[in-house]
Amino acid sequence: MSTNTLSRITEQMTLPVIAAPMFLISSPEMVIECCKSGIIGSFPLLNARTADILDDWMKRITEELEAAKSKEPERRIAPWAVNLIVHKTNTRYDSDVELIKKYQPPIVITSLGAPGPVVELVHQYGGLVFSDVSNLTHARKAAQTCVDGLILVSHGAGGHAGAINPFAFMGAVREFWDGAIILAGCITSGQDVFAAAALGADFAYMGTRFIAASEGFASEEYQNMLIESTSDDIIYTDALSGVKANFLIQSIRNAGLDPDKLEKKEAVNLSQLNKPDNKAWKDIWSAGQGVNAIKRVMPVASLVEELCQEYKQAEVSLMARSSKNL
Ligand SMILES: Cc1cc2nc3c(=O)[nH]c(=O)nc-3n(C[C@H](O)[C@H](O)[C@H](O)COP(=O)(O)O)c2cc1C
Repeated sequence: MSTNTLSRITEQMTLPVIAAPMFLISSPEMVIECCKSGIIGSFPLLNARTADILDDWMKRITEELEAAKSKEPERRIAPWAVNLIVHKTNTRYDSDVELIKKYQPPIVITSLGAPGPVVELVHQYGGLVFSDVSNLTHARKAAQTCVDGLILVSHGAGGHAGAINPFAFMGAVREFWDGAIILAGCITSGQDVFAAAALGADFAYMGTRFIAASEGFASEEYQNMLIESTSDDIIYTDALSGVKANFLIQSIRNAGLDPDKLEKKEAVNLSQLNKPDNKAWKDIWSAGQGVNAIKRVMPVASLVEELCQEYKQAEVSLMARSSKNL
């Protein structure tokens, strides 16, 4: 992605943050509120249960953001993004790609595999593709395609997380990649966003913090457990979805399972995700190690305002510390 494209996007933003796509959590309201608050809002296409529902959601997001822009042309309204699962078991792939063609979301985030032919399609209408990777092998493979950004899902992240420390991950990827970097994993406060920028990330990718946003689909019980939990209450396991992911230990116990006796599941099969007997994500809740910093549920607008204030404070306090040390 050229520096011009990057600055064209950041000029429309209040903070370099992407509210990450979360299965069963991200809602169209959340996406709209994020963009109106000046951060990129996103959702997994599979959160809409059918193609018709998805068509409605994409229409609504497009229309509401257009209306907000015409009403307040000076306001910073960030672009929106969708998350396409490119894993071979995604039976909705073809119809979801048709809707990407129809609504042309400015950013498409690919996950669980190589980005594939969707890159060319998105580029044809002027959109950008960010590919989610959790290790160096996948980062190198994605870097050889024409994607515009790599999302480095580091250790401790919510959902399917990597095992690499973010400092190590950033440094290693910068050796072979000069496109945009989006850093993910335990970025929970405005200070964390500032730290990600200091490390060289173009955007911070925040999932867990947005489970506690009022506009999302998370239940009150899930949000309360998130608020009450610390990093010690998170388990990293492949026993629940076949791929290593972080989950809240208490939700595993509440589902009648012993977190110490979980057995590895076979490879992920997305067609099973919405089946009633599938407990992962629906009854067993995912969260990253950043849970400590989450103290209450709040609307997206207030959450983003808080992040902006914390970011500025971090900047001021770093400047104060550096001038003292000079
Ligand atoms: C409940 C939950 C569901 C998630 N679902 C998805 C998903 O459907 N697609 C995806 O690419 N990433 C998914 N993720 C990962 C996030 O997009 C993001 O990488 C991660 O939340 C960032 O780490 P953090 O939670 O520590 O901020 C999910 C994460 C959580 C917590």
